[in-house]
Amino acid sequence: MRASTGVEGLDEMLNGGLIPGRTYLVKGGPGSGKTILSMLFLVEGAKRGENCIYVTLEEPINEVKEDMKNVGVDIDSFDNIHMFDASPSGETLFGNSFFRNLELDIPGFKAALEAKIEELKPTRIVVDPITILELASKSEVEYRRDMMSLFNIFKVHKVTALLTSEKTGVSPEDFLVSGVIEYVEYEIRGRLIRGIRIRKMRGTAFDESIRPYRITSEGIKVFSEENIFE
Ligand SMILES: Nc1ncnc2c1ncn2[C@@H]1O[C@H](COP(=O)(O)OP(=O)(O)O)[C@@H](O)[C@H]1O
Ligand SMILES: [Mg+2]
Repeated sequence: MRASTGVEGLDEMLNGGLIPGRTYLVKGGPGSGKTILSMLFLVEGAKRGENCIYVTLEEPINEVKEDMKNVGVDIDSFDNIHMFDASPSGETLFGNSFFRNLELDIPGFKAALEAKIEELKPTRIVVDPITILELASKSEVEYRRDMMSLFNIFKVHKVTALLTSEKTGVSPEDFLVSGVIEYVEYEIRGRLIRGIRIRKMRGTAFDESIRPYRITSEGIKVFSEENIFE
């Protein structure tokens, strides 16, 4: 049993999709497509009748919704995608309680999220991006411990979780998650070449090549048969 990512070509790279109930990381630079990919993953679940939770820690919800309209998705048409704004501009209780005491309140964030999971019983969840959680941690030890306990909440509730990260290269989270999907970019003779690759995926064979992708008004398409350098 695999959970489709909702992105054409990416499921093929994953040998069918993600293994449900595990936590995955989507990494990449600004504008690479992390938010769109993670929302498409929720839309795919929503279309199958699953409950989904999206938590934004950076971009305001209305902007995320506008961005999704540009790729042909009206998030408001899905009443089973529950959006929570924990961004600095967030108006919700969830957001305010997190940012009021950022230094101490990662446990508060986890508790608020777990309460929502218990209430809504989602099978898919996105936290976009997790970068601020690391900045709010006092040490790497504390960060790793908090992240592991967050992943454990997902596991206990059998949620497939997709977290985004703005870091590129290998970073501590890579070791904690079940899989890492990474956007990469290269400058070759003054031209920017973008690709997507799977850096790690426990429990399955996967395509190890870097593949080209395109964001269009219809979503993200990964060219899983093509080589980015050709
Ligand atoms: N309709 C579209 N056609 C082409 N590119 C698009 C379209 N809609 C959005 N994009 C591209 O998607 C990117 C933003 O994706 P996003 O998921 O918000 O990035 P990230 O979260 O990684 O910063 C931008 O670089 C933008 O150019
Ligand atoms: Mg984003």
